[in-house]
Amino acid sequence: MEPRTNFMGLDLALCPDVYEPSDDSELMVEAARKYSFGKVLDLGCATGIFGIASAQKKEVSSVVCADLNPAAVELAKKNAVLNGVEKKISFIQTDLFSAFSSSSKPKEKFDVIGFNPPYLPTTPAEKVHGTLNLAFDGGKSGRKITDKFLSGFEKHLNSGGILILLQSSLSGVEKTTVVLEKKGFAVGKFASRRFFFEEIAVLVARKRPEDEKKKPRARRDLNPGPTT
Ligand SMILES: C[S@@+](CC[C@H](N)C(=O)[O-])C[C@H]1O[C@@H](n2cnc3c(N)ncnc32)[C@H](O)[C@@H]1O
Repeated sequence: MEPRTNFMGLDLALCPDVYEPSDDSELMVEAARKYSFGKVLDLGCATGIFGIASAQKKEVSSVVCADLNPAAVELAKKNAVLNGVEKKISFIQTDLFSAFSSSSKPKEKFDVIGFNPPYLPTTPAEKVHGTLNLAFDGGKSGRKITDKFLSGFEKHLNSGGILILLQSSLSGVEKTTVVLEKKGFAVGKFASRRFFFEEIAVLVARKRPEDEKKKPRARRDLNPGPTT
């Protein structure tokens, strides 16, 4: 019998090859419960926790749970059934957005993209064995996957859409904020948690409409998006 847990009211099967929910996942669930609406992408879904919490909301019409780790995709499927939301969710194995952008069809877009990326600065000696490494390994700087994600995620966000992104002080929350602001997003810190060695934070970013961009705005005092 596989291990099971109840995490923030969600019934979740666990698997040794897949990231087990932790403090960062908790912040992501809180953000999903507050902000998710319309069509949601849970990128790097692992257990499917962000997508499942989103699918439970009536404001959410559909969810895609996606992960590079095939064991995570299978586990998320199982967990969607355990929580009775499987009809709202589809599942896909993909490296970031590769499955959502092909030359033959238009880029798939979402109203909300949630991503809790691997962000730990990792040397070759620190790599974890097997596919579980994908959950932690942010490359030498910790920003390898985050920077790749930031380079083009906005092409997959509908107008008025929201990005919910977990970041850590170990790999530069401020740097990510600056990148998002340069792309024309209003960025707010939804929640954070401090540990003795790091601070983790959920950034909520909303694309500013063209006319708003012309006005000077103070940073961090922007309403990051609709609340539900
Ligand atoms: C820190 S875990 C977060 C899991 C889950 N969202 C949560 O909050 O509990 C990061 C997840 O991202 C996935 N991942 C890493 N690189 C990826 C990539 N290039 N494309 C898609 N998923 C990726 C990992 O397999 C892992 O499941």
